[in-house]
Amino acid sequence: MRYMPMTRVETGMALGQDIYNGEGKLLMSRHLVLNNDSLQELLRLGFPGIYIDDEFTEDLRITEVVRPELKREALKMVHDLFLDNKNLPMEQHNLQEIVMNVMEDVLNNGEVMCNMLDIKTYDDYVYFHSVNVAVLSTMIGAACNMNQEELDILTTAALLHDVGKRFVEEDVLNVKRALTEEERIMIVQHPKLGYEFLKENFDFLPEVYDSVLEHHEWYNGCGYPLRKSGSEIPIYARIIKLADVYDALTSRLPYHEAVPPSEAVEYIMANAGAEFDPELVDVFMRKIAVYPVGCEVSLSDGRTAVVMENHKEFILRPKVKVIPTGEIIDLKSDDSARNLTILELNV
Ligand SMILES: [Fe+2]
Repeated sequence: MRYMPMTRVETGMALGQDIYNGEGKLLMSRHLVLNNDSLQELLRLGFPGIYIDDEFTEDLRITEVVRPELKREALKMVHDLFLDNKNLPMEQHNLQEIVMNVMEDVLNNGEVMCNMLDIKTYDDYVYFHSVNVAVLSTMIGAACNMNQEELDILTTAALLHDVGKRFVEEDVLNVKRALTEEERIMIVQHPKLGYEFLKENFDFLPEVYDSVLEHHEWYNGCGYPLRKSGSEIPIYARIIKLADVYDALTSRLPYHEAVPPSEAVEYIMANAGAEFDPELVDVFMRKIAVYPVGCEVSLSDGRTAVVMENHKEFILRPKVKVIPTGEIIDLKSDDSARNLTILELNV
């Protein structure tokens, strides 16, 4: 299976993944051969690209850190929590079970990097975003050797970090131009609104509430709402901040197009010590594939290739398969590839 930008997806191609919406509802199943209707539907949903199955990458399997069915369950839970207020104690029980399962998947896949681009629908961004931030945060926490209780706090707070947005009007969240002062004030209230909502309705450890409140603090003290800095900010909130920005940058949003992981990583490195905790940035860099498996890249000799495998300590030099010859080049260890580099990710 390989990633294909929507501009190059055609009828007759077969889906390499299940497609679901922000409620976790299955819209199209893996292996579906696209016809004109399903292609139009994919375009309407606003994906920048999708995974397809083809012969050239038949042997390519991508290991996901968290099982897709668990992601779907988490999506549904977050979705209901944003809209529904009826039976919150039951939601807490449900949420805790999902948190446990996410932690278990992440710990079982300790060596796996985040190698798959997330395919999210445009309209349901906030639900997909919540689940992604939870997965990424848990990966960072596990790589920091957090224990079970710490991971539990982290994953819970990450899943709920933006729940305060349920109190901000959708029009304001989806503004496509620069915000007015009034709109900006409404948006920056969401950490506090989420904190209050959770405190009133749930029974979590205090660190969960504090981390939701402080997920927009900056390491250098320039964030909001408390303008805390460095280790005054709970480590959970510092991790969520990183995962939050990475996922937002790599998503298509009303106010910007999705940037490739390579550019998002560049932004994060450039802002280590300002927005982000530099030590956590180091950990994060080891978990994110700059050139995700299944994506097409341009090589410095003019050829294009598909990324087949990433090497943890050499993230800029993966193993690739040249198009169309199928020649396999390991940029890390092949002598003949010493002068060859990747110029860009074609997503
Ligand atoms: Fe937020």
